[in-house]
Amino acid sequence: MMSGLIAFASCSGSRDSSARKENKPLATTTKVLWGHTAGGAPVELYTLTNANGLRARITNYGGIIVSLEVPDRNGKLGDVVLGFDSLDGYLGKHPYFGAIVGRYGNRIGKARFTLHGKTYQLAANNGVNALHGGLRGFDKVVWEAQASPEGSVVQLNYLSKDGEEGYPGNLSVRVMYVLTDDNELQIEYLAQTDKDTPLNLTNHTYFNLAGGGDVLKHKMQILADRFTPVDAGLIPTGELRPVAGTPFDFNTPVEIGARISADDEQIRLGGGYDHNFVLSSGGGKLALAARVAEPATGRVLEVSTTEPGVQFYTGNFLDGSITGKGGVRYGKRSGFCLETQHFPDSPNKPEFPSAILRAGQQYKSVTVFRFTTQ
Ligand code: GLA
Repeated sequence: MMSGLIAFASCSGSRDSSARKENKPLATTTKVLWGHTAGGAPVELYTLTNANGLRARITNYGGIIVSLEVPDRNGKLGDVVLGFDSLDGYLGKHPYFGAIVGRYGNRIGKARFTLHGKTYQLAANNGVNALHGGLRGFDKVVWEAQASPEGSVVQLNYLSKDGEEGYPGNLSVRVMYVLTDDNELQIEYLAQTDKDTPLNLTNHTYFNLAGGGDVLKHKMQILADRFTPVDAGLIPTGELRPVAGTPFDFNTPVEIGARISADDEQIRLGGGYDHNFVLSSGGGKLALAARVAEPATGRVLEVSTTEPGVQFYTGNFLDGSITGKGGVRYGKRSGFCLETQHFPDSPNKPEFPSAILRAGQQYKSVTVFRFTTQ
């Protein structure tokens, strides 16, 4: 067992004294038994509520963000993430709605990599490539969860055993979700391994700040001067290409739909946007990566991260075949993802920032989703 191996920093709750002084309600977390996996494992649903009434529901199945209710410019709460009403939907096949993705978020070319002279074969679950951690990635496992009724924090732990999904090393992972009184959902990822392994943790939430319809009118800003163009299998070619003069320049806010059908080779290969942006921050410190504004509701999402990249995905594979919350069919472009990450296929691209976690080192990655209105 690895449980003794890791000394994690203690978590910082959102229960601060300012809420108390202002006589605001305090942040809380409640827990219910949500159902069982096919194998009979109990699955819990946690509801985190902050002092302003924002609510996040998170399950320990896949660490999935099930719902996220944030106010519009009139203060009306609305759910801004795609997903299902009940656990059953998540137990079935779905495109990673709300889930924690690992060990390796996004693709590894030809489903293999070589580390210290040894070649590791992974499941080819996306054509010839490996996608999002394999056949049973972190999105499909039951995490051990801890929460206290006071404060809006849930902590999820998972031990991925040596060889799981073909990856080396016993990897102990902790993900902490904190809903702060500043209307942020903070995600902190921590991990340690006993053998070097690729690791690229992210969250695959599909946002729709309007709460329905498509996302084409959302105004997107991504602070990135370059992106990583891909081949037909959506594997980066290795080039870091300037976005200037292309449909990938989001440095100035622009509607998602403005150039999504442009006559552009990369747009065609992605079927829209499904690309990794090289963040101008360079990663390593928490910095703003993207800002999204929805004009009708006034909702604004700001994404900050310590990661060097973000996958901007426009729900190109959604085709109306999935019926989600409230019986709504999720059509093409009904949500967008901003998956903070190391670049896809980094284990096979020595020129990219390394996504190898060394034995005994501490992995730490932080992403913050902040909600405001305008
Ligand atoms: C990521 C990938 C997409 C797609 C979705 C899930 O965003 O980059 O190509 O696989 O996950 O459907």
